[in-house]
Amino acid sequence: MQQVNLGIIGGGTVGSGVYHHLQVNGALLESRLGIKIGLRRIAVKALDEPRPYAIPESLMTTDWTTVVNDPEVHVVIELVGGTTIAKTIILTALKLGKPVITANKALISAYGEELFAAAQKHGTNLYYEASVAGGIPIIKVLREGFVGNRITHLYGIVNGTCNYILTRMKLEGSDFEPTLRDAQHLGYAEADPSLDIDGFDSEHKIGILGSLAHGIWIRPGDIHVEGIRPVGKTDIEFAGKLGYTIKLLGVVKSVEKAVKSKKAERKSIQVSVYPALIPNTHVLASVNHVFNAVFVRGDVVGDTLFYGRGAGKDATASAVLSDIADAALDLKHQTRRRIPPFVSHASDTEVLPIDDAVCRYYVRLSVIDKPGTLARIATILAASKIGISSVIQPEGHEGESVPLILMIHDAPNSAMKKALAKISKLPVVKAPPVLLRVETFD
Ligand code: HSE
Repeated sequence: MQQVNLGIIGGGTVGSGVYHHLQVNGALLESRLGIKIGLRRIAVKALDEPRPYAIPESLMTTDWTTVVNDPEVHVVIELVGGTTIAKTIILTALKLGKPVITANKALISAYGEELFAAAQKHGTNLYYEASVAGGIPIIKVLREGFVGNRITHLYGIVNGTCNYILTRMKLEGSDFEPTLRDAQHLGYAEADPSLDIDGFDSEHKIGILGSLAHGIWIRPGDIHVEGIRPVGKTDIEFAGKLGYTIKLLGVVKSVEKAVKSKKAERKSIQVSVYPALIPNTHVLASVNHVFNAVFVRGDVVGDTLFYGRGAGKDATASAVLSDIADAALDLKHQTRRRIPPFVSHASDTEVLPIDDAVCRYYVRLSVIDKPGTLARIATILAASKIGISSVIQPEGHEGESVPLILMIHDAPNSAMKKALAKISKLPVVKAPPVLLRVETFD
C-alpha cells in the first residue's frame, strides 16, 4: 500500500489540531514513511462549532457513518471522546477490519478489554498513544521501548489541571477553592471540575499505564482514588517546611504484602491515585503548572523520566500523528499484531487492596493546645504499632485550637485509618483530620 487514507471523527480541539498539523507536517511524515497520507473526511458535531484551527467545509460532514463506511478510508481516527457513541464508532470500524486510532482514555479504561479483543478478532489494530499524557509517547515507551524490562515502579503526574492548581497554591500560598475558581475563569479547569480534581482522569490514565506495565487488565474498580480537594494551603506550607511538595500522583508499584495470605506467592502491585508529599529533591517535585511527567523504573534500565505537555490541541495531535505513522506502516507491511498490549504474561500478579498497602503519612490535626493532647494521640498510634517520625505544632496560646502536623513512619493503610478514626473522636480534636501519603520513591 503506497497511499493510506484517513477518516477523522471529531473536529473539535484535538480533531482540528490533527487536521492542522497534517497540513503543516504531512509532507514530512510522508517522506519519513515512504507512504502518501490522504485525508478523506472529517465528521463533526456541527459545521460551525468553535474550533482552534479552521477546517475547510468541503472536508466536513455531520454523519460519521459515511466516514467509517467509506471504502476509501483505510484508518479511522476517533476523537469525539466519551464512552457511548465513541464506542460504537470504534467497534464499527474494527468490524470492518479498519485500524482505529483513539485519544479516548475513559473509553479504553472502561472497555479496553472488549475493544482490543474486537481488534484482534477482526485482524486489525487499535492505537491509543494520545490517551495518556498527550505529547509524551509513554505508551510506546512501555509497550516497545521497555519490552525487555520488568517495571517495578511507575509514578505519573498525569493531570495538568490538578498540577496547575497545586503549583499555584504553592507559589501564591493560596487555598484550594479560590485557586480552582481562578483556574476555571482562566480556562485551565472545566466548569464541572470533578473528573480532574477528584482524580478520575488520572485513574483512567494510570490504569492504562499500569495495565501496560504489568500485562494484566487493571479495572477502574481496582484503583484506589483520592483527589486534591482535601489539600489546603496549610498542608502545602507545612509540607514545604518539611522539605516536600504536594503533587497528585498516579502510582503503580510492586509491593511486599503487609498481610501474608495463602496467595502470598503471587506478585502484588499497588495501583492508586492520591495527593502525595514528595521530597523536593526528587525530579517530580519540579514538574509544575500544566506539565505532565511519568517516572518509570525498570529492572534493566533503572530510573527514567518522561516530561511534556499532557493535553491540548498540539501535544495531543503529536501523539495522533505518531499513531498515524504506525497505522500506515502496519497497513503497508500487513502487520496485524504488534507487541500485544495486554496479555496474561503476568497472570500471577494481583492488585493489592489499598488497606494492605504500607507507606509513610502526613497527618494534619486541628487540636486544642493543652497538656496531654499529644500524649493521647501518641498513645492511640502506639497501640496500633504506628510510630511518629516528626511533629510540628506552631506556637499558639494554651487552650486554643492549633494545627498539629505528624509525620508517620511506614504503616499499613488499614491500621492508619482505624487509628485516625479513634483520634478524630478525642474531644481535643476539633476538625476532621487530613491524611496524605508520603512517597519516598524507594
Ligand atoms: N483534563 C486533563 C488534564 C487533560 O487536565 O490533564 C485531558 O486528559
